[in-house]
Amino acid sequence: MSSSDRGKWNRAAPRYESFAARAAEQRWARYKRKLFSGMQGKVLFLAAGTGLDFQFFPPGKTIVAIDVSEQMLRRAAPRARRYRGAIHLQQMNVGQLAFQDASFDQVYTSCTFCSVSEPLEGLRQIRRVLRPDGTLLMFEHTVSRWFPFNAMLHACTPLSRRFGPEMNRPTVRSVRQAGFEVRRVERHYLDVLKTIKARKPVPR
Ligand SMILES: C[S@@+](CC[C@H](N)C(=O)[O-])C[C@H]1O[C@@H](n2cnc3c(N)ncnc32)[C@H](O)[C@@H]1O
Repeated sequence: MSSSDRGKWNRAAPRYESFAARAAEQRWARYKRKLFSGMQGKVLFLAAGTGLDFQFFPPGKTIVAIDVSEQMLRRAAPRARRYRGAIHLQQMNVGQLAFQDASFDQVYTSCTFCSVSEPLEGLRQIRRVLRPDGTLLMFEHTVSRWFPFNAMLHACTPLSRRFGPEMNRPTVRSVRQAGFEVRRVERHYLDVLKTIKARKPVPR
């Protein structure tokens, strides 16, 4: 998984902010700010991209932020330095997280699982590194439940996946499949975007 994800997103990095990010960041700011407002404890954030999400993090936190692409991380570094807290950037593939089991209280994702080639593998890794009863909080592009938007998303994905994200991922289902308990799903923009809150169950 890593070499193809890494190559694709390294190629996307120089034009990422012009084709996708800035306008979207304005529209999605309130959802992202709300999502990140609950940050507490040991936090893992993925994927950092060029660091556009950092402006929505509450101040004073200590966060480990990973991304598979060194070209994305290079652009994220100045934003990480400007954050009023500590963001530790690391190049890492979500499918091969180099952290011990149960080492985080919370994991946050932002437009990540539309972009990872093997989402289930990544979600299982997140489950491994979260402590029991820890939370997974996500803001994600997904397939819509509504026709014709779902058909449009299926139609544009063969093209979009060549340069960037897949627009038709069944991410809520994948989160359940990876062994999480889905606690809440908030649907935005005709269900094309979702805020998802899930919990790692405590073993009996
Ligand atoms: C659509 S961008 C989102 C970036 C940022 N969260 C934002 O909203 O601006 C997707 C990011 O996922 C990263 N990515 C893709 N596959 C990955 C993987 N297997 N492991 C870690 N990061 C990955 C890409 O490098 C890219 O930075």
